[in-house]
Amino acid sequence: MNELRCKVLIIGGGPGGYVAAIRAGELGLDAVLVEDGRFGGACLHVGCIPSKAIIEAAEAFHALTHPHALDAIGLTLARPKLNYAKTVAWKDAIVARLATGVGALLKKAHVRSLRGRATVVDGKTAIAHSDTGDQRIACEHLVIATGSEPMELPALPLGGDVLSSTEALALTHEPAALAVVGAGYIGMELGMAFAKLGSKVTVIEALPKILPLYDEELTQPAARRCEDLGIDVMLGARALGFSNGALKVAGADGREKTIAADKVLVAVGRRPRTEGFGLEKLDLTMAGPFIRVDDRCATSMRNVWAIGDVTGEPMLAHRASAQGEMVAEIMAGEKRAFDKVAVPAVCFTDPEIVAVGLSPEAAQAAHGKIVTGLFPFRANGRAMTKHKEEGFVRIVARADNHVVLGVQAVGAGASELSAAFTLALEMGARLEDVAATVHAHPTMSEAFHESALKALGMPLHI
Ligand code: NAI
Repeated sequence: MNELRCKVLIIGGGPGGYVAAIRAGELGLDAVLVEDGRFGGACLHVGCIPSKAIIEAAEAFHALTHPHALDAIGLTLARPKLNYAKTVAWKDAIVARLATGVGALLKKAHVRSLRGRATVVDGKTAIAHSDTGDQRIACEHLVIATGSEPMELPALPLGGDVLSSTEALALTHEPAALAVVGAGYIGMELGMAFAKLGSKVTVIEALPKILPLYDEELTQPAARRCEDLGIDVMLGARALGFSNGALKVAGADGREKTIAADKVLVAVGRRPRTEGFGLEKLDLTMAGPFIRVDDRCATSMRNVWAIGDVTGEPMLAHRASAQGEMVAEIMAGEKRAFDKVAVPAVCFTDPEIVAVGLSPEAAQAAHGKIVTGLFPFRANGRAMTKHKEEGFVRIVARADNHVVLGVQAVGAGASELSAAFTLALEMGARLEDVAATVHAHPTMSEAFHESALKALGMPLHI
């Protein structure tokens, strides 16, 4: 077997791995990227991007098929039709365009990209297996960026009509009845989207609330929207098994119930992909199922790095990318550490939920006395003109010096506010800084301004 030599070998071409490869290339490091699926990873091909396309199409279709909201703004229309196969083709075209872009960016950065499955031999060697044969690769630095995969439930093995998000996003027809097991990010985003596309959706969640990651105040608008959309939410419930279009569920009261479903989406979390490619040979220190890394993404072995979902929560694409950039810079000799104040989390439910930094509860536990300011979108002119008044922006700061510790929001299009919130935290802003910043009128971002004013006891518009 011939041997290819490089400075940096990156295994995994998702948002962690390909970003690390591009930055490594930009910095003049000779980098090789090996990916056994498609460059762009789960995020681009079966996660973030395709799900947002389906969510967008579902929102448009639902608005058109439920014209009472449009009625209020003076629009009436004939009943529109859904051609879901065309929606899926549109989604696939977006994914393809972005994937081509990733390939071009890698090329421009002079990264050598190999399609194939890598197996690790030791900390400096791997073999890439592909249809065209095996390629031995020797490197100075090894970066593990293999991501994560959906978790399965023993009672609901994936296959047939039992789907992970990957298959759910590849459906060519909207299911008539969809049961969603797990009311986390994926379950709620896709459950709401399919409900808007016309599916009868039932959500089964083991814990007593939906989106348990967020506090009640933030999730209430989404819970109310589920009711509007006719989604049945069973809390404190467990799925027991599925056969012949019937999902057996143990309810909170312990009673068994049967739910009719032609498809079941299992969305009970993801687990790091650390098995099946020789990683055990490296004798890495683990942290539970994850690879333990320090604040430079260094593993317990010299010059072996790990980034993204394999390193733990939050398993988010933008965290992986930020780690990837950093590791490339460290390998190029720069002094860097992952010392981010906050990694924003966005849930693309209806309405969208954004959380950056500490919740009021966590801030209080960590810093003692805090102040908060909440500004509802119903007092925001732009939200009114968008006919989307549900939700609010909530700011959390230390009571003594007013340093902002967290910002949360829920509302239509709130995802776009996450940049301002994160910048405020990253720059160490105080309430006075946000209050003294001129926010454009009329925009929903004024709610951020007003939340700071409110926390300071000087609100203008409420
Ligand atoms: P998740 O961790 O967000 O939610 C899983 C839910 O399933 C939890 O509420 C849990 O209580 C429930 N659950 C677990 N076992 C259960 C059982 N046996 N029966 C009923 N409910 C059960 O996981 P999810 O939604 O699968 O997403 C995985 C990861 O993907 C997330 O952690 C996130 O990192 C990423 N993701 C991020 C998105 C975003 O940033 N917008 C969107 C989608 C996924």
